[in-house]
Amino acid sequence: MALKMIDGVFVPEKFELPPRPDPAQQRQDAELFAEALELIRERKALLLAHYYTSETMQKLCEASGGFIGDSLELARMGSESPSALIILAGVRFMGETAKILSPDKRVVMPSLKAECSLDLCCQAEDLARVKSAHPEAVVVAYANTSAAVKAQSDWIVTSSLAVELGKYLSKSGRDIIWVPDRHLGSYIASLSGADLWCWPGRCIVHDAFEANALKFVMQEHPQAKVLVHPEASEEVVKLAHFVGSTSQILNFAKTDGGKEFIIATERNIFYKISQACPEVKLIEAPVASRSGYCISCANCPWMELNTLAGLIAALKEPEGHEVFVDEEVRVKALPPLKRMLEFSADLKAGRIVV
Ligand code: 13P
Ligand code: SF4
Repeated sequence: MALKMIDGVFVPEKFELPPRPDPAQQRQDAELFAEALELIRERKALLLAHYYTSETMQKLCEASGGFIGDSLELARMGSESPSALIILAGVRFMGETAKILSPDKRVVMPSLKAECSLDLCCQAEDLARVKSAHPEAVVVAYANTSAAVKAQSDWIVTSSLAVELGKYLSKSGRDIIWVPDRHLGSYIASLSGADLWCWPGRCIVHDAFEANALKFVMQEHPQAKVLVHPEASEEVVKLAHFVGSTSQILNFAKTDGGKEFIIATERNIFYKISQACPEVKLIEAPVASRSGYCISCANCPWMELNTLAGLIAALKEPEGHEVFVDEEVRVKALPPLKRMLEFSADLKAGRIVV
């Protein structure tokens, strides 16, 4: 079978995007830096920020002794840290993951409206129907899903582990129901040999990178290596010199020795790459446009909701910023999340070889 697309499930054609922050708001964020830092220290909070949050948010994270990472690392840090108050600057599934793993900690977010198009592509009721049509299959959900979807899954996985988990599970010979990213699904199937029922969801940011335009940019920069997140389309992935999660892309740039990189992921990652390798030239991979406008412009509109004003509000008055997960759902979502963390630790320690 290799890969078969699942049909008859709800995947939005268009997403309602939040308004982009204007320059005035960006200035305001910079002015709020000292106040935000003082509050974080005063409340003894731990700030966990994803690489896709704004440069100002990442700088605040560094100044406050917080942690910047990919979605797997944020999940791990949230559960391992002794801090009773976590500020999750990222999107909602990241806040929910932290809460599922650490129910006794208070988890707040600068904005609870920070969605993810992948999460919005996978309704829990649809998954229940697909599962009953394939009762023998293992359900593997991408971390970019709601707690209700995680609660129905056997495994959760992030992009940094997805191919390894596919290889590991393919040995059992069982089919996999993969939700919700179609591009990551086809990437897993092609590298792992696993048989996948693949959900047709997409990330609006990565889906927009465009292979033909990328070929032109590659011709203009023949020395540049192309680093791609696996949420991008198969055509773009095929042009990559390296494919990996956000942290893996950063590590590749740090260790490769190359002097020019074309990056096909959210552009806020440039902050950390430039900080680690100030001498390298970073080029944004081109995105498709509609009527001359790019939809995402390699910039996640929901990640942009992580403003310093929102962070201050979350610390001053958590109501409307605190993440809650229904206890019944949480208890069901916990084992597959723990399985992911254990799998990652076992792989790292060589206890599992795929
Ligand atoms: P990472 O797991 O690479 O951090 O990716 C999360 C994400 O949302 C990518 O769009
Ligand atoms: Fe979701 Fe895409 Fe934004 Fe990542 S970049 S949070 S996958 S919409």
